[in-house]
Amino acid sequence: MKKIILLGSCFSLAAWAVSCKQSTTADSAPPVTKDSLIKRGSYLVATMGCDDCHTPKLMTAQGPAPDMEHRLSGHPAGTTLPPRGAGAGKDGWVLFSMDQTATVGPWGVSYAANISPDSTGIGVWSEQQFATAIRKGKWKGLENSRELMPPMPWRSYQGLNDADVKALYTYLMSIKPVKNVVPAWEPPAGAPPAGAAQ
Ligand code: HEC
Repeated sequence: MKKIILLGSCFSLAAWAVSCKQSTTADSAPPVTKDSLIKRGSYLVATMGCDDCHTPKLMTAQGPAPDMEHRLSGHPAGTTLPPRGAGAGKDGWVLFSMDQTATVGPWGVSYAANISPDSTGIGVWSEQQFATAIRKGKWKGLENSRELMPPMPWRSYQGLNDADVKALYTYLMSIKPVKNVVPAWEPPAGAPPAGAAQ
């Protein structure tokens, strides 16, 4: 009889230990899964405003709205920008195209990149490349490449932690790939004015 009672209390002790262990695990951070990364990445892309520049827009009665069919595919190839004066970008003003995917400034003309997971976007990039692009502002995410031009706000993204970079990358890799070869950056004619981004 004594044996049975002893055995019973052992079992309940074991059950308590297990449930205690489980609840400690549940109280700390939930496990990181692909789904949780995608969810976090989606939230970050939305709140960090990537669509503002990287998604082409449809003109609506309420103004420009993101063209979600071509989400994050950058400046649409083949678009003709409206004419601009010879001094544009050198006169102290910065010009944005109506859809915010092309910008003219002292740095020349920059076009928002295709950051969808197509091969014409970031489809073949490693996570490391993505981290180098977004935190160090390096074109194509290559250490020795040129600095990304304005208005890509990479300086604001320098402090992103590894977990958020991973979430952004995982999410971007999960969205619809869109084929679009964005025009190359056009440096200004002649020497750039003092203080211009290189
Ligand atoms: C205010 C406009 C703007 C915003 C907001 C913005 N970008 Fe950019 N981004 C650009 C432009 C313009 C370029 C191209 C710069 C160049 O060619 O030098 C670029 C380039 C990039 C590149 C490098 C692409 C390449 O081929 O080298 C990546 C990656 C990128 N952006 C990711 C993002 C992500 C992710 C977000 C949101 C978290 C974001 N950008 C927000 C304008 C923006």
